[in-house]
Amino acid sequence: MLHHIILCSFLFLLCGQASECKSDIKAGNYLPNWDSLDKRPLPVWYDEAKVGIFIHWGVFSVPSFVSEWFWWYWQGTKQADCVDFMENNYPPSFQYADFAPEFTTEFFNPNDWADLFKTSGAEYVVLTSKHHEGFTNWPSANSWNWNSVDVGPHRNLVKELADAVRNRTSIHFGLYHSLYEWFNPLYLKDKADGFKTQEFVSSKTMPELYDIVNNYKPDVLWSDGDWEASAEYWNSTNFLAWLYNQSPVKDTVVTNDRWGQGVMCKHGGYFTCSDRYNPGKLQPRKWENAMTLDKKSWGYRRNAELSDYLTIEELLQTLATTVSCGGNLLVNIGPSKDGTIHPIFEERLKQMGEWLNVNGEAVYKSQPWKHQNDSLTPGVWYTTNQNKVYAFVFTWPTYGLLNLGSPVATSDASSVKLLGEESSLTWEPLKSAGVGIYLPVINPSTTNAKWLYVLQLTGFV
Ligand SMILES: *[C@@H]1O[C@H](CO)[C@@H](O)[C@H](O)[C@H]1NC(C)=O
Ligand SMILES: *[C@@H]1O[C@H](CO)[C@@H](O)[C@H](O)[C@H]1NC(C)=O
Ligand SMILES: *[C@@H]1O[C@H](CO)[C@@H](O)[C@H](O)[C@H]1NC(C)=O
Repeated sequence: MLHHIILCSFLFLLCGQASECKSDIKAGNYLPNWDSLDKRPLPVWYDEAKVGIFIHWGVFSVPSFVSEWFWWYWQGTKQADCVDFMENNYPPSFQYADFAPEFTTEFFNPNDWADLFKTSGAEYVVLTSKHHEGFTNWPSANSWNWNSVDVGPHRNLVKELADAVRNRTSIHFGLYHSLYEWFNPLYLKDKADGFKTQEFVSSKTMPELYDIVNNYKPDVLWSDGDWEASAEYWNSTNFLAWLYNQSPVKDTVVTNDRWGQGVMCKHGGYFTCSDRYNPGKLQPRKWENAMTLDKKSWGYRRNAELSDYLTIEELLQTLATTVSCGGNLLVNIGPSKDGTIHPIFEERLKQMGEWLNVNGEAVYKSQPWKHQNDSLTPGVWYTTNQNKVYAFVFTWPTYGLLNLGSPVATSDASSVKLLGEESSLTWEPLKSAGVGIYLPVINPSTTNAKWLYVLQLTGFV
């Protein structure tokens, strides 16, 4: 069998589509090494989906100050603003764990969340099952008194959201999971041993990973907190081989690249490379831009200002540059400790959905075009879908004439439309190469073309 797999991997490199290789891989024979695991094709739903929603929610949503890294900044690096915040507002004996009972979630209505996500046009959602603080949003048997059923919400947040999303939408449900936990004594012990012991991995990380996959069947497993120790320490390749070969989500699950020191941007499922990764160039591997609506934090911040949030124009421009280069966009929101999603997040998500309703054909199931952005006019990015080319235009040109250097008309019958408006547009070939497009006069009171303008080009190469 081993021989066969090695031969097959070799053939796979040579032939790509060889049916024998494909059927073997489908049969689930991935080996626990990167060579083998990296050959798994990503389930197609993920690339087609393009847009997901990321949710950072946990005990850090209680202080909701600075960021979800609050505990670490307060007691790890002792950052002044966090130390002062605690000194000024809490008694000296107050521990981070004392925030947990205040994680009340009394307004959490998972059906309302699911409906909002559906309205946003996102096709997958990723919830923090456990962040670096170690608090689990499900009743983990390995997290005594530090989980959402024993303390705080007294609810299984992961299950409630998974059920609501699945009952009410066709959105794929995913989970974020942090491998490391800042202050877990078992982790600190392994760390002190130079990661030569794996007590934390065998008694906490791995049982919990198997638990969330078996019980909540996530279609996305968004791993994080990997960077202090090697993939060998985390036992990542063994886990991934199980995930791809035997787990209940083996045919649908996608995962990222944060599986051990030095692994990110090199191995795994799709690449995240860094937070808010947006390379502006076509990438050889599928990748994801995980970014935040609050520019400064993933978790909710009570003292965020309006200027800290992306405008709808900024969000859509980020979506356009990401999708043009082959990426997916994972848009993060931070719900509050009482279970509400604040109106600024709600508005942004609803606006995104309104825009996707009009312009979705340029996004969902699209592919990168031969040019990612225009050669003549800055702020114009491209995708292609079903033989049409789509141009995302960030700025309405002065005098309404838009000159594009990259698309070339194949005949006089080639046509241009502005999505959200009815009529075809007048265009003419440019003397150099490219096309000049006369944008229409639009009625701001009634038009569906707003925030970021999308041109549909038919008969252009
Ligand atoms: C949602 O799904 C769960 C399990 O999948 C089920 O137990 C529950 O009754 C459903 N709720 C509604 C409102 O349909
Ligand atoms: C690593 O994974 C293998 C295969 O599942 C398992 O036998 C081993 O016990 C795991 N080691 C740890 C430390 O979890
Ligand atoms: C757009 O494309 C051109 C090449 O056509 C390139 O030189 C330029 O850097 C690109 N602009 C951005 C913002 O990526």
